[in-house]
Amino acid sequence: MKIAIGCDHAGVAMKNEIIPVLDGLKIEWEDFGTKDEESVDYPDFGEKVSSAVSTGKVDRGILICGTGIGMSIVANKFPGVRAALCQEDYSAKMSRLHNNANMLVLPGRVIEIGTAIDIVKTWFTTDFEGGRHQKRLDKITAIEKKLKLK
Ligand code: RB5
Repeated sequence: MKIAIGCDHAGVAMKNEIIPVLDGLKIEWEDFGTKDEESVDYPDFGEKVSSAVSTGKVDRGILICGTGIGMSIVANKFPGVRAALCQEDYSAKMSRLHNNANMLVLPGRVIEIGTAIDIVKTWFTTDFEGGRHQKRLDKITAIEKKLKLK
């Protein structure tokens, strides 16, 4: 699996801790920045990662900002992107089982790094359940089509 990862200045420290975890999970990653703690605007980095997921250049993405809220707003504007802001393991698991989330959003200033690492491990090792949940995702795709996003 290949993923894109990106953050703003509030997410750099967490991103740097997560990348070795991705290596441990044998996940190929591309870092879209930002790379240091100089203040930047989260939509610029959210756009790069979301675009890579939306166009199929990568299988999934991870975005990190201070609260995770700004990155979530950006990511969920992209057709085909299903971004889940996760602060604990249960939501990470359910976002894969029920929502087939293809973008994990983490709040760099809200949760401890250990929690973030648990979330990442769960998110990449939990498969979508399909069945009745696929029907619901199809409805989301239909909404995107109605709104002419696709
Ligand atoms: C940056 O200060 C902060 O606003 C940003 O990281 C994020 O939390 C926005 O939603």
